[in-house]
Amino acid sequence: MIDLHCHVIPGIDDGPEDMEEALSLCRTLKGEDVDVIVATPHYYPEEWSVARVDDVLAGCRDLANLLGDGGPAIVAGGEIGIFNGIAGAVSDGRVPLLGEGDCILLETPLWQTPLCFEEEIFILLAKGYRPILAHPERSREFRRIAEGLLAMRRQGVMLQVTAGSLVGSYGPHVKAAAEMLAAQGGIDLVASDLHPGRKPDLKTAYPALSRLIGAKAADRVFYDTPVEVLGKSEKRCSTCNC
Ligand SMILES: [Fe+2]
Repeated sequence: MIDLHCHVIPGIDDGPEDMEEALSLCRTLKGEDVDVIVATPHYYPEEWSVARVDDVLAGCRDLANLLGDGGPAIVAGGEIGIFNGIAGAVSDGRVPLLGEGDCILLETPLWQTPLCFEEEIFILLAKGYRPILAHPERSREFRRIAEGLLAMRRQGVMLQVTAGSLVGSYGPHVKAAAEMLAAQGGIDLVASDLHPGRKPDLKTAYPALSRLIGAKAADRVFYDTPVEVLGKSEKRCSTCNC
């Protein structure tokens, strides 16, 4: 399985503090049958930036070397906070895509959705990128923005739900929001969003989603679509041999 969203690079964001903790998180994911980890540290506008592309690539290489042939493989990515000018920041290399495909993981704001939210997404779509909205079900404004999210999905945006949301790790309201998205056929991807102190919940989320949308559709969400997300460019990842 590919985990498209997690925080496993040490010393960069609110992920692990050191390499020992980073290795432990990677081994936890391996125990959930993850064989490719896309490391997605938080990226924000320069004034509050916590990640730089070079540091993330170096962190991925170090982690991949220490994990060795037993894996999991590590691919570089990022979770990009919404700000004015994301497409420009991608094209000049300040924020990354997922692996070497054309998909970009965007952090759905948990509290107030910024005014530029939809505009930035449509600029990315117009420039040929494929935006993936991370954990929309965890937004405190979910009820207000749900219809807009589904409309954006019809325009080509993908929605990524956190595994723990499906099994109640973020509380009943978030679980209900995830189930509403599932009922609308609105879940494209599930990922762990693993941080220190949290559980990946992938193994328990799979049967939960299967019960809601059927095993064939759940397989597409957990297995097929992540392969397509990383495989778009058909290039090899520069940080591993996945
Ligand atoms: Fe995240």
